[in-house]
Amino acid sequence: MDAQGSTLTNKYAEGYPGQRYYGGCEHADTVEELAIDRAKELWGAEHVNVQPHSGSQANMAVYIAALEPGDKILSLDLTHGGHLSHGHHANFVGEHFEVQHYECDDETGYVDYEGLREQAEQFDPDMIVSGYSAYPREVEWERIQSAAAAVDALHLADIAHITGLVAAGEHDSPVGIADFVTGSTHKTIRAGRGGMVMCGEEWAEAVDKAVIPGMQGGPLMHNIAGKAVGFKEALTPEFEEYAARVVTNAEAMAERLRERGLDLVSGGTDTHLVLADLRPSHPTPPGRTSRGRWRRPASSSTPTRCPARRARRSTPPGSASGRPRSPRGGSPPATAGPSPTASPTWSTRPRTRRCWPPSPRRSTN
Ligand SMILES: Cc1ncc(COP(=O)(O)O)c(C=O)c1O
Repeated sequence: MDAQGSTLTNKYAEGYPGQRYYGGCEHADTVEELAIDRAKELWGAEHVNVQPHSGSQANMAVYIAALEPGDKILSLDLTHGGHLSHGHHANFVGEHFEVQHYECDDETGYVDYEGLREQAEQFDPDMIVSGYSAYPREVEWERIQSAAAAVDALHLADIAHITGLVAAGEHDSPVGIADFVTGSTHKTIRAGRGGMVMCGEEWAEAVDKAVIPGMQGGPLMHNIAGKAVGFKEALTPEFEEYAARVVTNAEAMAERLRERGLDLVSGGTDTHLVLADLRPSHPTPPGRTSRGRWRRPASSSTPTRCPARRARRSTPPGSASGRPRSPRGGSPPATAGPSPTASPTWSTRPRTRRCWPPSPRRSTN
């Protein structure tokens, strides 16, 4: 928090260490190099970019670096634990790429690896995305990599949630297996807020160009300082103990919830999170009507005289009724970001193709 709240927030440092667009960036260079070196030590990656402002932007950098608009992505469905930035229709990824989703097995709650492989063979994706928002079990990176290799697809492993567990050896690492590994830096790794991309040297230049100038301007140097500090802490034996306790505590929580009669998705956990299946005990979740519709928030039924609100109501974005898109089925996981159906301000604009920043073409290696 001290590093993130430091005066580095005032310093613009567009570019990379030793190659900035302005002078006076010596300390920014030191900070960023520290974050990169420590990340390499923690996760064993050949190349690390610590500039993405968030986990979603880390994913965006990979898509820009490796794909062309219209390419095909196969990822886990949001309602099965995936993330918006893996290709939800309301997200830029769903808008610019052709996306299909694989699912978890209804019975076991585990990723349906066989189904994924079969779907990959039929869909022939350019990229398969693994790593999830709401998935309590160890991910089998090798199985997903082998499904990707079988159809000559790239593999992006998004370890946003489990960065800390992977760094501490509590969860197997996809580094060295997947082509790209992305992550948030503020979840289980408990470092400065933001994202990062890890990849092999062959993708280094394309990823760096995708981050800047491809999609960002100045890096948030205070957050990068927070990443450097958090990564240093994560290199200590204390962090390993902490990560081990996180998993033990989650297991204990799972056990207690089970004892109290809740159904757990997959029956338990290998990670930091526990998913309870509330459908049997709470058939009508709070905020929904018994027919599965979202209840209007109490405040929106109160008449308002605010002209700006009236104007917005009479010209709702992209929809004749102004109502949010209807639910696709199932409830998005609590950690998977805001529900597009729950948000009255979620845009329902029509899909359009836009020009992306020029990006290096996909490698043939
Ligand atoms: C799997 C996954 N990827 C990406 C993200 C996005 O991270 P951010 O909120 O930093 O954009 C999340 C957020 O929870 C996530 O769970």
